Amino acid sequence: VAVPARRDPVAVFDSGVGGLTVLHELLVSLPNEDFVYLGDTARFPYGDRSAEELEGLVIEVGARLLAQGAKLLVIACNSATAAGMAALQTLAATGIDVIGVVAPESQLAVEATRNGRIGLLGTRATVASGAYERALAAADPHVSLLPVACPDLAPIIQNGFPFDQRVVETVRSYCAPLKEAQVDTVILGCTHYPLVGPMLQRILGREVTLVSSGPAVARRVEHTLALRGLLSEAAGEGEYRFECTGDPDSFRSLGTRFLQMPLGDVRRVEVAGERVVT
Ligand code: DGL
Repeated sequence: VAVPARRDPVAVFDSGVGGLTVLHELLVSLPNEDFVYLGDTARFPYGDRSAEELEGLVIEVGARLLAQGAKLLVIACNSATAAGMAALQTLAATGIDVIGVVAPESQLAVEATRNGRIGLLGTRATVASGAYERALAAADPHVSLLPVACPDLAPIIQNGFPFDQRVVETVRSYCAPLKEAQVDTVILGCTHYPLVGPMLQRILGREVTLVSSGPAVARRVEHTLALRGLLSEAAGEGEYRFECTGDPDSFRSLGTRFLQMPLGDVRRVEVAGERVVT
């Protein structure tokens, strides 16, 4: 079992560049921590994969990040967290805390709702898993969830810069059932959706609360590190670095939009079949 130290980095894992929206919040909330981020871009998207596949990928890539030395692991990808609960438990057995996005977002959503009607936008894998229903029921049995699978939204956002009317119409069609059901809180259940946050807010109405995973996860990470006595004591800003399994140049150019900060070096780690090796 690994013994984490204050000076170790926090590791963040996602299917690609989307999780940089989560890393963004971590960099803002915990500026003196070090971070290492791995995007499994060679196997993006995760959102159409089966739960079994996703569990295998989370264990493989998560174990690899933990072997490099990390004091905490964040699974920033909703599809991977939602389908990979068993994988999260396997990783947690290493002695390092593993934080996914589903529980922290669900907690914020129950705190935000006033009429008890919560909407969810997510990938097929995330919606099919039922993970948000379970997490919400555990947090508050009186709320109801309306899940909407948005199979093409993440790829459209990723390839859609600059955004055009087609993106607006796609977002509008996924919002229609949520408006109809008069939800007052909507969980952005995919790393990419904060990039269309302003569109969602305009279409859904300003009285609807949008819950995205970045702030929810940042709060949980800070709390967990504080409880374990693992918050960094370094003065000044920490360092952050990137690894990806696909092309580092496209990771860098796409990633800047998602991180809203410069990326610097991106190291490629090889994928051999279903295995990741350095
Ligand atoms: N990170 C993924 C998620 O949050 C983005 C979409 C995908 O890989 O399919 O579900």
